Amino acid sequence: MTKTKLVYITRKTHFNAAHRLYNPLFTDEENEVRFGKCANKNFHGHNFDLFVTIKGIADTQTGMVMDLRILKTVMQEYVVDKLDHKNINEDVDFMKGKMASIENLVAEIWNQLEPHISKGTLHCIKLCETDNQFVEYYGE
Ligand code: NI
Repeated sequence: MTKTKLVYITRKTHFNAAHRLYNPLFTDEENEVRFGKCANKNFHGHNFDLFVTIKGIADTQTGMVMDLRILKTVMQEYVVDKLDHKNINEDVDFMKGKMASIENLVAEIWNQLEPHISKGTLHCIKLCETDNQFVEYYGE
């Protein structure tokens, strides 16, 4: 009997967006102390890389877990089109009223994508803000 192989398949995409870390419950001085340059009132931008990993067993007919062309379309429609060249604090419906941190953003990206994963299951979303820092979310 052949062993069933569980595989993790990842698609990468990219978007540019602006944000600032600012909590309206704090004074400007407190925001400056807590968030430093990230609180800059005129916002700042990042070149984000986004990695979406689907876990599953390859279909016997297609050899695929989920058709990556479909995943590409879903990531474009529900994430990139909503974030690319946008101000995360002001323009993005699913970030309204939330701190525009990468921790919050990755969890909201999960919520955007998860209902549209048609084959396999969403396993991990990795969001890279700079070359030196990124966040991973596993839906917990
Ligand atoms: Ni930033």
